[in-house]
This record gives sequence, structure tokens and C-alpha cells, in this order.
Amino acid sequence: MKRWSAVVAAVLLVAAVSLMISMGAAAQEVIRVGADTAFPPFEFVDEATGEYTGFDMDLIRAIGEQMGVKVEIVNTVFDSLIPALLLGEFDVIVSAMTITEERAQTVAFTDPYFRTGLVIATRPDNTSIKTTDDLKGKIVAVQMGSTGHFAADALPGVGRVDPYQFVDQAMTAVIIGAADAAILDELVAIEYMQAHPASIKVVGEPFTTEEYGMAVRPSDTELLQRINAALAELRANGTYDQLYEKWFGVD
Ligand code: ARG
Repeated sequence: MKRWSAVVAAVLLVAAVSLMISMGAAAQEVIRVGADTAFPPFEFVDEATGEYTGFDMDLIRAIGEQMGVKVEIVNTVFDSLIPALLLGEFDVIVSAMTITEERAQTVAFTDPYFRTGLVIATRPDNTSIKTTDDLKGKIVAVQMGSTGHFAADALPGVGRVDPYQFVDQAMTAVIIGAADAAILDELVAIEYMQAHPASIKVVGEPFTTEEYGMAVRPSDTELLQRINAALAELRANGTYDQLYEKWFGVD
């Protein structure tokens, strides 16, 4: 009798442990993606469907598919993305984040997936702002913690730099005249110009060269490798080009 109950207990234990293992494996099939989803056309909410959409969102979903994992988007203010990643609130940042040396001291970046630069945006009737030199004494609106913010802070003679939590607020500051100009990523500025041609224009060419990368915790070396491998595959099989074409029209 005793022996039988020992056998039953052993069988139950094995069953319980294998169930726990398989549940664990299933739970690992999700990667959580941190993004400030207010940065069109890279990440934003599709008003018709309420879904997160944009180039970055399509790209990370395609990467997830390639990796055989589910992708879950966690909306987070841009300036909090790195601390939240390090705290484990999600596993990877995909948020049009520029690879910088400073950031690379705390997070591990994937291979670059997008090349761009910063531009100045101002009101269409402003003819005095043509280059960064013309921002002397001016009020410049930026998104807090963005490379546009860092660039504005580093420009000599700028009258005042006003950081806003969301890029949309920085653009609104320009539109209503609370700021003379904004500094932000080129394709986002162009998107705003196209949406509000009477209120926003992009001035000249980008004055920096930047590359976007996805970021993971430095200890997640395997995840980093898997994302890089999936990204390389999507570049090789034409998916990357299709997404580029879908969101930016040209390749
Ligand atoms: N590329 C810029 C940076 O890394 C701005 C990115 C802002 N992204 C966003 N989803 N708000 O600082």
C-alpha cells in the first residue's frame, strides 16, 4: 500500500513538473516590446482600428513571426523606455531609437535598421530660420530625452530649449507660436508637414546622420542574436523592402 502511494506520488510529481515546464515554455513565446506609440509613421495608433501600427510595429511583428514568438506592444513614454527596459517591464525597445554611444553604455543595440537624421521644423511663414545657426536666441521645442533634445542643448546660443513629453506637443508649440522651431527626426517632421501643410514646414536637409536600433538588456545576448538573425533574414527575403515601400513609398 505504502509503495503504491509512493509510485502514484512520483507519477503525479513528474506530471506536475512537465506541465510547469510546458507552461514556462509557452510563456516564453511572447516578447514584450516597449514603444512610445506617438511617433508617426514609425509607431502610432491607427484611429480606425485602435491598433498600434507604423513601420517599426510592422517590422517587429515580422521579426516576431520569423522568430516564432508572439509580440506584445507596451506603450511607454519615450524618456522612460530605457529605465523601463532595465526594470524588466518589457524585453526590447522598438521606438525609432537612435543608436548613441551614451545609450549603448546601458542597453545593447541590435544591428541598425534605419538611417535618418534630424531636421528643423518651423511655421511656413517663417523665412528667417534656414540652418541651425539661425536658432540663436530662438525657442526650440523638442521631445524630452530624444536626440533632437540633445542636439538642441548642444547648439550654441539657442535662446531656450523647451522639452515636451510627446513629439506632437513640440509640434503644437511651433504651430501656436509658443516655440520658433522644433528639432526632430526627418521622416516624422515630413509626416507632420504633410498632415498640416499650412502650419508646419521642414527646413533644409538633415543636419545629423543617425541610425535606429532596437535595444535589449545587455545580459540578453541570445535574444539580441535572434533578433539580429531575424532582421537579416527579413532584409534578405525582401520583407524589409516591402515594409519600407509600404511606409515610405520609395526604397
Ligand atoms: N530618434 C530619436 C531618438 O532616438 C527620437 C526617437 C523618438 N521615438 C519615439 N517613438 N518617440 O532620440
